[in-house]
Amino acid sequence: MNGFSKLTKTEKIDWIVNEYFSNPTEAQQLLKQYWNTDSKLQQLHDEFIENTISNYYLPLGVAPNFIINSTNYTIPMAIEESSVVAAASKAAKFWAERGGFTTNVISTTKIGQVHFKYSGHFSDLTEFFKSIKPKLIEDTKPITKNMEARGGGILDIELRDKTASLDNYYQLHCSFETLDAMGANFINSCLEQFAKTLKSQVESHLNETIDIIMSILSNYVPECLVRAEVSCDVIDLKDKGLENPQLFAEKFVQAVAIAEVEPYRAVTHNKGIMNGVDAVILATGNDFRAVEAGVHAYASKDGQYRSLTHATIVDNIFKFWIEIPLALGTVGGLTRLHPLVKFSLELLRNPSAKELMSIVAVAGLAQNFGALRSLTTTGIQEGHMKMHLMNILNQFEANTKEKDYIITLFKDKAITHNAVVEALDLFRQSNSD
Ligand code: MEV
Repeated sequence: MNGFSKLTKTEKIDWIVNEYFSNPTEAQQLLKQYWNTDSKLQQLHDEFIENTISNYYLPLGVAPNFIINSTNYTIPMAIEESSVVAAASKAAKFWAERGGFTTNVISTTKIGQVHFKYSGHFSDLTEFFKSIKPKLIEDTKPITKNMEARGGGILDIELRDKTASLDNYYQLHCSFETLDAMGANFINSCLEQFAKTLKSQVESHLNETIDIIMSILSNYVPECLVRAEVSCDVIDLKDKGLENPQLFAEKFVQAVAIAEVEPYRAVTHNKGIMNGVDAVILATGNDFRAVEAGVHAYASKDGQYRSLTHATIVDNIFKFWIEIPLALGTVGGLTRLHPLVKFSLELLRNPSAKELMSIVAVAGLAQNFGALRSLTTTGIQEGHMKMHLMNILNQFEANTKEKDYIITLFKDKAITHNAVVEALDLFRQSNSD
C-alpha cells in the first residue's frame, strides 16, 4: 500500500475494513461507535498521532483516601486490569488510618548525551573542550532563556572518553534541570545545538574530524529520584484478616527480601508496582514507556535485577519504602491538550512535577503493599477473581438480574471461570423453564 497516510480518514477506514475484515460493515460501525460525536474533540484526538481511525478506550478510575505528606488526595488511574484500583484504594485507606505516606524528592536531574566519533588525541580534545564549554552553553541561549528565567536549564556538560568500550567513541554527557516539564524537547534541542557547535569548533580550530552519531536524552534517570514511605508500630498493622500483625509483618518483610535477591520474583514484584505507577502516569498524560525503561534499568543498577521496594522491622516498627526514578512533567506535552489529562491534574490540585513524582511513587508503593498483603495472607486469587467476576459475566453478556444473582451466589464461594459459567448456565436454564 503506497500513500496510505495521504488518504482521508474515511478512505483509510474503507481500505482497512475491506482488506482485513470478514464483515466490513460491522468493523466500520465499531470504529464509528468509538468516535466522539463532538467533532472538534475528535479532531483533537485524531491529531495526536498519524493514521487515527478511532479511539481506544481505557477506564479512568479513582482511588480516594491517599494521605501524602498530610494532604488528602484522590488519585486518578487509567488502567484495564481488574483489582488494581480496588487494591490501591484499600491500601490508601489502611495507611490513612496509620499516619499516611511520607515522600522525599531526592533529586530531579535529567541526562542527555551527544554520541560522537573522534580519532585525534583525547588530551587535545580535553583541553579544547574546556576552552569551548562556555560557547557550547552560550550557543543554546535562545533555547534555554525561558527555562533559565524559571530557574532551570543546563547544569553541566562533561566530555567522556568511551574508547575502552568502543573504538574512537566519545560523548558529551550533559545534565539538565527541567522543573515542571518532562523536558524531552528542551533537552534534545540543547543536545543538537551542542553537537553543531562541537563539530564546527573542533573541525575549524583543532583540524580534526568529529563524526556526530546522535544526540538524544536518556530515559535512564537515576538522579531523578523520589522516595515514598509508610511506617507504624507492628501491633498497629492489626486489621480484618491481619489478626496476627507480628506474623504478618515478618512474612511481609520476607516477601520483600525474596524480591531483593531473586530476579524471577523481582520482575513480578516490580510489575505489581508498575500497575499503580503506569495507571497514574497514563491518567496524567506522561510517557509510561520512558518511565518503564528507566525504572527497570534502575532496578538492575548493581548488575542484578532487584525489588524497587524495601521493608524492615526495627524496634517493633514496621517500615516499608520505595525509591524510584521518575522523570515526569505537569506542563507541556499532553497536559494542556487532552481533556481527561487536564481533569486528572486538576483532581490532583495541579501538582508540580515534584509533587507528581511523590504521588506516583506512593501509588506504586500502595499497589505493592496491596499485592504483598494478599500474597502473604489469603493468596492473590481471592481478590483478583472477585474483580474478574464482572469480566466473566460481561464476556457471557449477563444482564443485571443475572449479575446480581451470580455476585450474591459467589460472595462466600471460590470463584473460578468454570464455576461462574456453570452457575450462569443453570440460572439461565431455570429461568427459561
Ligand atoms: C498482577 O498484575 C500483579 C502481581 O502479580 C504483583 C505481585 O505478584 O507482587 C499481583
